[in-house]
Amino acid sequence: MTVLQNAYSGEYAASLAYGGHARSVSDPGERAEILAILDQELEHRGFVGGMLSALGAAPDPFKERLMTVVGTTISCLCRIGGWFIPMYGAGKLEAGNIVEYEVAAALAREAGHPELVECLLHMAEIEWDHEKYFRDKTLSSAWCRVVPLWPAPPPRADIRANFARGATSRRGAAA
Ligand SMILES: [Fe+2]
Ligand SMILES: [Fe+2]
Repeated sequence: MTVLQNAYSGEYAASLAYGGHARSVSDPGERAEILAILDQELEHRGFVGGMLSALGAAPDPFKERLMTVVGTTISCLCRIGGWFIPMYGAGKLEAGNIVEYEVAAALAREAGHPELVECLLHMAEIEWDHEKYFRDKTLSSAWCRVVPLWPAPPPRADIRANFARGATSRRGAAA
């Protein structure tokens, strides 16, 4: 349950952070892409909220408050972080999000809730897409020649392959 509560509040923090990130970029196309990612994070929050209530649980009020502060802080920092730092930070966080949903899917299976697995794996795949977006942005900057990139997650197809054999993409978790 803690994993789902963390994901629920984490998605809110991500949506707040991406709101600030979108406002901080000058390219309209890039802004639209970040806002589309923001929408997907809110969709994830809706999915996870539905899972929590189906399991008779509720969001953790402390995590909700904490993640509101974290998301708002990151949102504000995007305005002074230039272009590279928010792109880099987002990519690194997204790498962890992939694993978070992989772990949640594995726990759902272990806990006898196979009905949650498909949605959790789907969210892991969308987080993989987010990581790829921010990785590609980061790699397009000259800064990545001096700032080492976080470890790359395994291929997207590995999410389901690893789940089928009872493993997770822990390489991404190190990020
Ligand atoms: Fe998400
Ligand atoms: Fe994401």
